[in-house]
Amino acid sequence: MLFGLLVFAMMGGDNMVKLPAPQFTNMSVEECMEARRSVRSYRDQALSLQQISNILWAAQGITEDRYGFRTAPSAGATYPLEIFIAKEDGLFRYVPEAHGIKREIDMDIRGDIAKAALGQRFIADAGMVVIVTAIFERTPLCPEHTPRSRSTGFRFGASGCLSR
Ligand SMILES: Cc1cc2nc3c(=O)[nH]c(=O)nc-3n(C[C@H](O)[C@H](O)[C@H](O)COP(=O)(O)O)c2cc1C
Repeated sequence: MLFGLLVFAMMGGDNMVKLPAPQFTNMSVEECMEARRSVRSYRDQALSLQQISNILWAAQGITEDRYGFRTAPSAGATYPLEIFIAKEDGLFRYVPEAHGIKREIDMDIRGDIAKAALGQRFIADAGMVVIVTAIFERTPLCPEHTPRSRSTGFRFGASGCLSR
């Protein structure tokens, strides 16, 4: 009962779970780069809301009030990327304006993502899977001057910056 009330208090009326403010560490960018490695086996443990906050803020968090500029750059500040996270309790969309996550699917789809990723089983075991998508219509900045190939590059470029 108490848990139910807590979850209700964290959600807005629109099924939004507000995330805590991101927490910063003292590690330098160089130290992060030196320590970075791809890892494919995980603890059997869900991520905390604080960890989720830190990851999503780093990916697409808003860091400027006037124009809504974000942690990751974007060609023309068009921000084509939408970030989803898949956890045991469902699929959620990150809403940068609210620094919150909104539930889109009420079931665990990590196994389906693992199958879609050529059967890489470790994806189903991850406490959280981050899915990066792009809304293509957001990127043609100026159709008569921006060739199609360049717009496509903008989406992949933004995606690369975010992953970094
Ligand atoms: C665009 C891209 C796609 C990748 N796809 C996969 C993947 O599907 N499965 C996987 O296990 N690793 C994937 N990797 C991670 C690479 O295998 C990994 O970066 C490489 O082996 C070097 O190891 P490191 O990241 O620990 O330095 C991918 C990396 C990049 C940049």
